Amino acid sequence: MTIQANIQGNYSVDKKYRSAAVNITNHCNLNCRHCFVFREGNPNDAPVSIRGEMQDDAMLMTLEQLRDRHEIKGLLWMGGEPMLKPKLLRRGVKLFEHNTITTNGTAPLIDFGPDVLYVISLDGPQDLNDAIRGEGVFSKVMRNIEDLHPDFSSPVQVQTVVTRTNQHRLEELVEALLPTRVGWMTVSFVVPRQDEADNPDIWETNEDRAEAVHHVIALKQKYPSFIRNSTRHLELMLPPYADRITAVCPATQSVLSLYLEGDHFTTPFCCHGNDVDCSRCGAWVVFHTAARMERNGLVNWEDDPSP
Ligand SMILES: C[S@@+](CC[C@H](N)C(=O)[O-])C[C@H]1O[C@@H](n2cnc3c(N)ncnc32)[C@H](O)[C@@H]1O
Ligand code: SF4
Ligand code: SF4
Repeated sequence: MTIQANIQGNYSVDKKYRSAAVNITNHCNLNCRHCFVFREGNPNDAPVSIRGEMQDDAMLMTLEQLRDRHEIKGLLWMGGEPMLKPKLLRRGVKLFEHNTITTNGTAPLIDFGPDVLYVISLDGPQDLNDAIRGEGVFSKVMRNIEDLHPDFSSPVQVQTVVTRTNQHRLEELVEALLPTRVGWMTVSFVVPRQDEADNPDIWETNEDRAEAVHHVIALKQKYPSFIRNSTRHLELMLPPYADRITAVCPATQSVLSLYLEGDHFTTPFCCHGNDVDCSRCGAWVVFHTAARMERNGLVNWEDDPSP
């Protein structure tokens, strides 16, 4: 049986991966300003009907084969919008030890049990979130969170992507979420395209980004159990560490990224697609993994690698 995946680029057939991130659909009901998935040059073509995408049976069989081949333990269900394929998710979450569904939160959540984590994306307080994610999205998502049944057993977290535009108003989002049943929030930073300039959301350098990182460190001190990033994770986003880390991106070593392309999966340059500027990458997964490696004694980012 041929596996319907074109494993190439940063990946290899006989490598072990802790986890995989999979775009189960290229359809999405939103059109977010910062979204890396729909950038030019990525595998992201969507047939007119979502039913025309890779069939559920073929997709699940492929994921099972990849799980066995690469000893994948955790699956990050992404898209497009993964909640557009609830039947596939219902079956898919049974295949992996750990499951995370990253969703825009506009569809009601389904209770998949306590072992499936929902990550809902919100990118600031209402006005800023809606400027990025679309008019009315913030209220819709908050309503879906409020409507969760008291017995709803899947844990729910929020992920926010910090940009140059929303960096000063993150605490308002924290305050809006604290009274809800959202357990905690993770903070990622925007991943720019190569040579991306004159974009108000994007810092030109990591030195320019540092003020925003310090702001999140202060938020972490104020809301230590609600902000999930460790302080070390955030410190590693500052110069000179950030460059040392993104130069050897620890995320690409541990996460198999699968984008949907017609009847098969394909591996782009990394989980953020093909057009990325590693030197300004602020992705959660990169610095979370870097901090964990350091904690486990595998690396010391204080060491300067330059000769
Ligand atoms: C691509 S979306 C797919 C899942 C779902 N549609 C959602 O919005 O959560 C996965 C996550 O990537 C984040 N994201 C999108 N574009 C980004 C970028 N340029 N840099 C960093 N994160 C980004 C989104 O905000 C979301 O949290
Ligand atoms: S909802 Fe998710 S996949 Fe859809 S455009 Fe926004 S970030 Fe991209
Ligand atoms: S540093 Fe960021 S953009 Fe570069 S390969 Fe790693 S995850 Fe992708």
